[in-house]
Amino acid sequence: MKSPISSLQWLPLIFFLIISTSVLSTTTTATTLFDIPRLSPLGGILQDPETVFSANVSDDFETFYYNQTLDHFNYMPESYSTFQQRYVINSKYWDGANRSAPILAYLGAEAPLDGDLRNIGFLTDNAAEFKALLVYIEHRYYGESIPLGSSRKVALGNASTLGYFNSAQAIADYAEIIIYLKEKLQAQNSPVIVIGGSYGGMLASWFRLKYPHVAIGALASSAPILYFDDITPQDGYYSIVTKDFREASETCYQTIKNSWSIIDEIGSKPDGLSVLSKTFKTCKPLKSVNELKSYLKLMYASAAQYNSPPRYPVTIVCGGIDGSVPPKTDILDKVFAGVVAYYGNRGCYVNAPQQISETTVGWRWQTCTEMVIPIGITNNTMFQPSPFNLSSFIEECRSLYGVPPRPHWVTTYYGGHDIKLVLHKFGSNIIFSNGLRDPYSSGGVLVNISESIVAVHTVNGSHCLDILRANQSTDPEWLVRQREVEVQIIKGWITQYYFDLSLSVNN
Ligand SMILES: *[C@@H]1O[C@H](CO)[C@@H](O)[C@H](O)[C@H]1NC(C)=O
Ligand SMILES: *[C@@H]1O[C@H](CO)[C@@H](O)[C@H](O)[C@H]1NC(C)=O
Ligand SMILES: *[C@@H]1O[C@H](CO)[C@@H](O)[C@H](O)[C@H]1NC(C)=O
Ligand SMILES: *[C@@H]1O[C@H](CO)[C@@H](O)[C@H](O)[C@H]1NC(C)=O
Ligand SMILES: *[C@@H]1O[C@H](CO)[C@@H](O)[C@H](O)[C@H]1NC(C)=O
Ligand SMILES: *[C@@H]1O[C@H](CO)[C@@H](O)[C@H](O)[C@H]1NC(C)=O
Ligand SMILES: *[C@@H]1O[C@H](CO)[C@@H](O)[C@H](O)[C@H]1NC(C)=O
Ligand SMILES: *[C@@H]1O[C@H](CO)[C@@H](O)[C@H](O)[C@H]1NC(C)=O
Ligand SMILES: *[C@@H]1O[C@H](CO)[C@@H](O)[C@H](O)[C@H]1NC(C)=O
Repeated sequence: MKSPISSLQWLPLIFFLIISTSVLSTTTTATTLFDIPRLSPLGGILQDPETVFSANVSDDFETFYYNQTLDHFNYMPESYSTFQQRYVINSKYWDGANRSAPILAYLGAEAPLDGDLRNIGFLTDNAAEFKALLVYIEHRYYGESIPLGSSRKVALGNASTLGYFNSAQAIADYAEIIIYLKEKLQAQNSPVIVIGGSYGGMLASWFRLKYPHVAIGALASSAPILYFDDITPQDGYYSIVTKDFREASETCYQTIKNSWSIIDEIGSKPDGLSVLSKTFKTCKPLKSVNELKSYLKLMYASAAQYNSPPRYPVTIVCGGIDGSVPPKTDILDKVFAGVVAYYGNRGCYVNAPQQISETTVGWRWQTCTEMVIPIGITNNTMFQPSPFNLSSFIEECRSLYGVPPRPHWVTTYYGGHDIKLVLHKFGSNIIFSNGLRDPYSSGGVLVNISESIVAVHTVNGSHCLDILRANQSTDPEWLVRQREVEVQIIKGWITQYYFDLSLSVNN
């Protein structure tokens, strides 16, 4: 069987830099489209392969397909065509419709659903306690849920066929399926909690705001819903990467900070690129210093984003940099020792050929249309400045797809500005969970907005940790506690819901 992980790890990051430096080597200072770190709950799992395959949860999963509407938002004849959308159910722990037992619905994100079934532990770990039905729904245009005749080549072929690929259609899909399922199972009174991580976490929180009659609450893990427009400073992401490294080791931070100008200096010499290629054991000769710099930058970013126990990749990279064996004095030798510590011993590094994952292809469209997350670097980080340039971003997207992004649509449609003021009186029952070592937490909701729109974060946590599978032998106390707090809050919502339901039934 094909490993579900092969298309889910953060290899796309590395692919980004290959195209960014070969095809789109237009800018040297501005952040390009492909430098923006991707979102994904599962990006760190590659680092810890044992934890992935130990459980065999698949036994209890049943796969279904729903005839989904192509376009929910107008009534033109072509909008009515349908496609098969995959969803998966685990009913082993459900206490049934007659008892109005809860439904935990995982909202798929920018990847096929397969990896989520195994790794989104929040559902499987808590199913028994909630006596819940588990439902996982795949996001349109990923995995098996491909519109327009099921061929990815056709569906992802051009902007006309990609046009139906957006978050509003996705959460409308989820609403339709959940309503359909409740009817089919005669579970109209079962409370639904939607759960998502990263981009999927944004979808979960937006779902609760747009479809309060479908889900009574949402767990939005590591959802940077404020990283749009100018709400979050563009430096947010790389400032946290920098902070993570500095906290792990001051000397490591200094080494990285000093390395960029040395790379530039060597690279500018006549034979410089071949010297760098040799130092970093590249798979192919380097074509530019940017190829190397992007690789390193994204390695540091991934290490920080997925800086999870028990490995703590930032510590591993810094272990290599600080403690090179045999001891190195040359800065680039140290940096390379960090690369080897992180990736392990490989034949070569930096520009190995990579397969293009569905996530790479799909997420590129999404970021080039509505998910414009302006991550850039101005100053005060361990990286060279590389400010986000919206005009060049728009140009790149237009040249790829023929249509420009709509960078203000997310905040127009879902909000985000003055969120505390707005949601204090509007909305309820959302948990925004974050780990503050996750660079994306800079765009997350980190304060309690009201009694029931709450922020639950851990200072040492990383991206989406809380919703991944629990591990009793390696999970630190603060992570166990974070999950407990979330479960208690959700139980409170359900209790309140049953009380409200009993009143409405009695009247
Ligand atoms: C917990 O983590 C350890 C160390 O990575 C691993 O050996 C073990 O299989 C994990 N247990 C579960 C239930 O995933
Ligand atoms: C895992 O599930 C598959 C499919 O149901 C089954 O064939 C296999 O024996 C199971 N493996 C283990 C280790 O339980
Ligand atoms: C879904 O659509 C297919 C093809 O149009 C059709 O054969 C099938 O009966 C439909 N299923 C349901 C449940 O409506
Ligand atoms: C649920 O309730 C219905 C109607 O009261 C009844 O016919 C059915 O047997 C019940 N199902 C279960 C599983 O208890
Ligand atoms: C887009 O792709 C569809 C399906 O392959 C095709 O019918 C259509 O002509 C293409 N449109 C453009 C503008 O290329
Ligand atoms: C860093 O950026 C901030 C905000 O853009 C600016 O106020 C500050 O002067 C800059 N600091 C340096 C050292 O350039
Ligand atoms: C942003 O990019 C545009 C188009 O590539 C370029 O003309 C402009 O100078 C850039 N702005 C900055 C501040 O670098
Ligand atoms: C928000 O409220 C929840 C529930 O009362 C609490 O657990 C959490 O620590 C609070 N978060 C912050 C950032 O104060
Ligand atoms: C977070 O990690 C740091 C260093 O790794 C440690 O000193 C600190 O006690 C931890 N904080 C919590 C709340 O666990």
